[in-house]
Amino acid sequence: MGIATTMDYGMILSIESSCDDSSIAVTEIATRKLLFHKKISQDAQHAVYGGVVPELAARLHTEALPKILEEVKPYFPHLRAIAVTNEPGLTVSLLEGVMMAKALCLALQCPMIPVNHLVGHVYSLFIDNPTHFPMSLLLVSGGHTMILEVESIDKITLVARTMDDSFGESFDKCAKMLGLPYPGGPHIENLAKTGNPLAHRFTIPLQGHKEIAFSFSGLKNAVRLATEAIDPDNIQAKADIAASFQHTATLHLIKQLDKYMSQAKPTTFAVVGGASANSYLRKELQNLCDRYKATLYLAPLAFCSDNAAMIGRAAIDLFERGDTLRYNDVEIRSRSNFN
Ligand code: KG4
Ligand code: ZN
Repeated sequence: MGIATTMDYGMILSIESSCDDSSIAVTEIATRKLLFHKKISQDAQHAVYGGVVPELAARLHTEALPKILEEVKPYFPHLRAIAVTNEPGLTVSLLEGVMMAKALCLALQCPMIPVNHLVGHVYSLFIDNPTHFPMSLLLVSGGHTMILEVESIDKITLVARTMDDSFGESFDKCAKMLGLPYPGGPHIENLAKTGNPLAHRFTIPLQGHKEIAFSFSGLKNAVRLATEAIDPDNIQAKADIAASFQHTATLHLIKQLDKYMSQAKPTTFAVVGGASANSYLRKELQNLCDRYKATLYLAPLAFCSDNAAMIGRAAIDLFERGDTLRYNDVEIRSRSNFN
């Protein structure tokens, strides 16, 4: 069985399994075109426990990844390399994708391209499109909150990061306190629409802090106290807390970014990562960029959260530089240089 092409186009198959999403994509190297992409989310299974359970995530990857792989078999004759997220992430989850990638490399005689998950998020900006660097960006996910300056795929400078919880994680934790399902980001955003963002004057973290940095644990504790003080059946009171939390967390990001923009004056700025789907944050970032006359780049909503398409897109740039490895030289790391 083969796919209908008149030329032998080279393609890369990519696998993402660093946390709780099982995803596989196929991307055409020459055109950067995403030919296939599928993701099986494990949200519903982890929601029962209020967060990701690593052993469960690994077991679900074992079920989901082969199911998706079955669908991409027609692309096998065209594959030039197998890309896979090998860092950072949950070790047992990374293992599932990396083992599948190694087996594919062995069977199809392909080289392997290990991709850093955070670099993958950066490349969510370029799916179906050419790469354009340099750019400064904010990465907001469940595990990370950082400002990065990207010159090229191997020249990435960490400018600032969180001192404790990440932006996305703080949404997850506050959602749990308010009795909302995991992952909490979209649920907080939704509930906040009917709440008053100024109902609670939560302290904005790191006010007066000279260096650019992020912190969300103090805000999380303030939300805990506010939640304990309301009637758990009072939906409006919960919406007010959600809106005030989202407003304060976003304002904190904007205030730290304002410091960065005034110092570094980037002309292009981007936001990536699962939490970059938040429309309140997107609007405030647009206002900030307008003030500094910087162009704001956003990844398509479908590719903000973890996916194999961004891993495949990053892998093309690595492939074209010759950054491939023999499958048995690829290692897994739960943390990476950016952490
Ligand atoms: O990038 P991602 O899919 O996984 C990691 O690499 O961590 O990000 C997941 C995180 C979760 O914490 C989730 O609650 C958050 O992104 N998130 C959001 C929204 N959608 C997802 N946070 C705030 N607002 C959203 N709309
Ligand atoms: Zn991610």
